[in-house]
Amino acid sequence: MDRRDFMTWMGVGALAASLPVVIAACAPDQGDETAAADPCAAADPCAAADPCAAGSVATGEAKAVGTLADLDANGQILSESASVGPVLVVHQPDNPDALVAVNPTCTHNGCTVDWVADQAQFACPCHGSQFAPDGDVLQGPASQPLTTYEVSVDGDTVLVSPA
Ligand code: FES
Repeated sequence: MDRRDFMTWMGVGALAASLPVVIAACAPDQGDETAAADPCAAADPCAAADPCAAGSVATGEAKAVGTLADLDANGQILSESASVGPVLVVHQPDNPDALVAVNPTCTHNGCTVDWVADQAQFACPCHGSQFAPDGDVLQGPASQPLTTYEVSVDGDTVLVSPA
């Protein structure tokens, strides 16, 4: 065996020795107790798109997204970079004292929906999907509802947390 053959053989050996480590890192962990409490703990780190990447909801803790003064002045609070993910807060059409919070990312192809107050619905400017205040699809092409958040008020601060 000359030096080149020896180095080739060693390279193949090193690759074969590291393969079980790579496979174990990407294998699902069936016994992980944290997976049930935190949906992102069960995310597949080897998947092409990580659902728990920045912008998605990872915890149940309420986060401030604006103030009632903002909401009253603008008719909505739109925070596309809130720590819980993109958030659009509006007054509930049939009960203006209550608030509604959704993730405004259209489930069809990811455009940001607008709140159309006089029609009491969220409308997507890209392909025309329409959503009810509770996020349900009123008109496609979207087939999945908008993600909703729990919304609360502390003083003048509007808080949201995963529903
Ligand atoms: Fe909203 Fe297509 S991205 S309808």
